[in-house]
Amino acid sequence: MQDLTTTSVTTAVLEQMQTTQDPRLREIMASLVRHLHDFARDVKLTPEEWLTAIGFLTRTGQACTPARQEFILLSDVLGLSALVNLLHDATAPELGTTSSLLGPFYRQDAPEVPLGGSIAARAKGPELLLYGQVTDTAGKPVPGALVQLWQTDATGWYDLQIEGGAETDMRGNVRCDAEGRYHVRTLRPLGYSIPLDGPVGELVRRQNRHGCRPAHIHFLIGAPGYRELVTALYLGDDPHIDSDTVFGVSAALVVNPQDHDPQSPMPGIPAVRYDFRLALATDTSSSRVGADPRQVLAA
Ligand code: BEZ
Ligand code: FE
Repeated sequence: MQDLTTTSVTTAVLEQMQTTQDPRLREIMASLVRHLHDFARDVKLTPEEWLTAIGFLTRTGQACTPARQEFILLSDVLGLSALVNLLHDATAPELGTTSSLLGPFYRQDAPEVPLGGSIAARAKGPELLLYGQVTDTAGKPVPGALVQLWQTDATGWYDLQIEGGAETDMRGNVRCDAEGRYHVRTLRPLGYSIPLDGPVGELVRRQNRHGCRPAHIHFLIGAPGYRELVTALYLGDDPHIDSDTVFGVSAALVVNPQDHDPQSPMPGIPAVRYDFRLALATDTSSSRVGADPRQVLAA
């Protein structure tokens, strides 16, 4: 038996874990241990600091409920969700529309909205028209694609944050026509602060970060045979467009509503035209970094 040192302990753990049957689990855990040990050596982690971190992770777990996923929020503010999205996009044989974060406010049971209808059931504010076409990466229309969208209202709140989520608003599912075209009315969303009343918020504040997301509209778009697209469109004039707390913005997803768009199917309403490109599905793995939080707890 050899005495463990600050480096041989890593080899000892890696050796012991080699009995793992599942090759992907073996690969992931070996890499995780190597990087964790390197990290501890790098910062010369003290017992007190490690206990502080364990306390933080414990509180993060305790903050999770059927309505809230604090671990996903942690992954978001560390840029890990954005990185996993980028890695996933890069696995498609042809690149479709860039993906973005699903976030914690997606719900599966949104109402159906007809083409030209509005997702604003109760909320009031300046109107916006979203229209465009869903195609494959070669520009061929995807007939009947389902476009799910959700967003904050004009004051920066999701329905789930108002009166305990009693009323569904500012979310809807729109079915594209036979040419993959969609048009739907909504309100101009407002940017907002991510939930900062939990342990992740404590961390963000200690880092002197503003904790805000620029105004955006979320989309989850799917059609049989295509890779599900999770993305969002961001309003270019938002003051936080270049400093999103969760790193969801990329240039290709920034839009600027046009007051007089000659091609708009509903003139008179400021319009955003956006064509979404779906990559072909190569496997059945999910594109969602996150989920309706009720499902995460059930898993
Ligand atoms: C959102 O866009 O809904 C969101 C994403 C990550 C963290 C918090 C909110
Ligand atoms: Fe959001």
